[in-house]
Amino acid sequence: MSEPLLTIQNLHVGFDIYGGHLKVLDGVNFAVGKGEKVGLVGETGCGKTTTMKSVMRILPMPPGKITDGEIVYKGRDLLRVNLKKVWGVKGKGISMIFQDPTAALNPVFTIGRQLMDVVKYSRDTGKDHSGDNIRERAIRALKDVAMPDPERILSNYPIQLSGGMRQRICIAMALVTGSELLIADEPTTSLDVTIQDQVLRLLGNLVEEKGNSTIFITHSLGIVREWTNRVYVMYAGSMVEAAPTKELFSKPLHPYTQGLMKAVPKLTGEGIAEGVTGRIPNYLTPPSGCRFHPRCPHVMPICKEKRPPFFDVGNTHQVACFLYKE
Ligand SMILES: Nc1ncnc2c1ncn2[C@@H]1O[C@H](COP(=O)(O)OP(=O)(O)O)[C@@H](O)[C@H]1O
Ligand code: SF4
Ligand SMILES: [Mg+2]
Repeated sequence: MSEPLLTIQNLHVGFDIYGGHLKVLDGVNFAVGKGEKVGLVGETGCGKTTTMKSVMRILPMPPGKITDGEIVYKGRDLLRVNLKKVWGVKGKGISMIFQDPTAALNPVFTIGRQLMDVVKYSRDTGKDHSGDNIRERAIRALKDVAMPDPERILSNYPIQLSGGMRQRICIAMALVTGSELLIADEPTTSLDVTIQDQVLRLLGNLVEEKGNSTIFITHSLGIVREWTNRVYVMYAGSMVEAAPTKELFSKPLHPYTQGLMKAVPKLTGEGIAEGVTGRIPNYLTPPSGCRFHPRCPHVMPICKEKRPPFFDVGNTHQVACFLYKE
């Protein structure tokens, strides 16, 4: 990995709900280097969005509660700086594209107004804050995401556009800020399947071209394989495997990763029945030891008692599984 840009260490996050406390994130360790493209995969409910919302400091608290850990971005612990400074970080350094583009856009303002506001406050607008320059940059941003007739789009309201077009607008907004780190959280899940690939490809090409560090959270292992340098596999609140992309696909080691690979081509919200039987555990009373043990075909006595740490298996490949102890 190149010099780290974002490092998450031992992150613990829970949710207070009626009836108890959900222990969701259970010591997340994760890092993205400068210019690196990192994939994050795992079944629905394993804590991917919670992890990234903690980074953005947009986790709803309550019910959410960060109980332990560090999130260091460019040398600063985001959990320990004041929120105003974090807003600075968000505005300049990190942007996130969400699953649902409808929720990310304000229905009462035109696309032009929203996009130009983002341009105005982005850091590489330069000194020229004149209206013409801002409008021009907004149009260029729309052209970047292959939006037809950008002049007209500027005067449209979100509701006048299709889901695919709205998500392109969100991608344009995220890219126009010139942020160093882009987090794309299942950016095409809510779109029609016929255009999912197209929008993902567009995003992949754009970040490649602009050189942003990117975290791709996606159900598409094809996209991960094609566009990332490194992959993290997450299960029930922690990372279970991390490896260079090529290596992960040619030599998946964690029993859960092996199950995911069998569930290709598509992981779904319905679990990964063909790959691994069972479901993500209940976070009120998560399994002891390795949280994967109730579903693991290779479970051993130690797995129920102790939590497996990351074991190095060479070439920056790490696996949290007792099968790889030594
Ligand atoms: N606002 C919330 N209130 C209560 N529980 C939540 C909330 N957000 C997330 N969770 C819990 O965290 C788990 C992980 O959610 P999430 O991070 O969205 O997973 P993923 O993005 O991997 O699908 C959920 O299954 C749920 O139990
Ligand atoms: S630590 Fe044990 S239960 Fe967990 S994945 Fe490895 S073998 Fe399976
Ligand atoms: Mg999610």
